[in-house]
Amino acid sequence: KIKACIFDLDGVIVDTAVYHYKAWKRLANELGFDFTEEDNEKLKGVSRVASLNLILQWGDLSKTDAEKEELATRKNNWYVEMINKMTPDEVLPGAKEFVESCENAGIKTALGSASKNSRTILEKVGIAHLFDVVIDGNKVSKPKPDPEVFLKGAEELGIAPENCVVFEDAIAGVEAAINGGMKVVGIGSPDVLGKANLVINGLNEMSLEKLNKL
Ligand code: G6P
Ligand code: MG
Repeated sequence: KIKACIFDLDGVIVDTAVYHYKAWKRLANELGFDFTEEDNEKLKGVSRVASLNLILQWGDLSKTDAEKEELATRKNNWYVEMINKMTPDEVLPGAKEFVESCENAGIKTALGSASKNSRTILEKVGIAHLFDVVIDGNKVSKPKPDPEVFLKGAEELGIAPENCVVFEDAIAGVEAAINGGMKVVGIGSPDVLGKANLVINGLNEMSLEKLNKL
């Protein structure tokens, strides 16, 4: 029986994936190369440092740790500039409604995101109050596909992993949920997220009925 829903943030609750993409692309372009939207899929759900390492690999560049820190900060500054302008209408269709319907049905809710910017985003779009627990990039050390972020969420909610469902748009996130022994609903394309128990286009297609059938 499902007792808790754990939501990824970027690409599930809000469409910040496009802002991450824009900022990383700008950084790559400044370094003299580019990467495709297909490559961008590999960055979803992946921590800031790990994303930078992948991008540098694609550009065939090697950097010192100090240089990497400067590059990651440069990207984050552009990203923060974009998220600071976010408004409540940027919550993805059906997301707020579905989280609310969980709460009304007595199902606990948590946020499970790798992002260190989660708090800012939740506050900008006005939904921080909707989650019983928030686990973000400041609270975890092992990046998805390690299940740490979701297991911490389940633990803080006091719900066993097998009674949790994770909502994820990233391959690494779907794998993290499976690695944690949880059910998972993929948000996006079945071609990419095939390992999930169910794949939908967005939370507007989710319902308590579908939740109970997982
Ligand atoms: C999420 C996003 C990733 C991002 C990561 C870290 O998982 O899907 O694209 O790199 O968070 O975000 P941050 O805001 O801490 O750089
Ligand atoms: Mg995501």
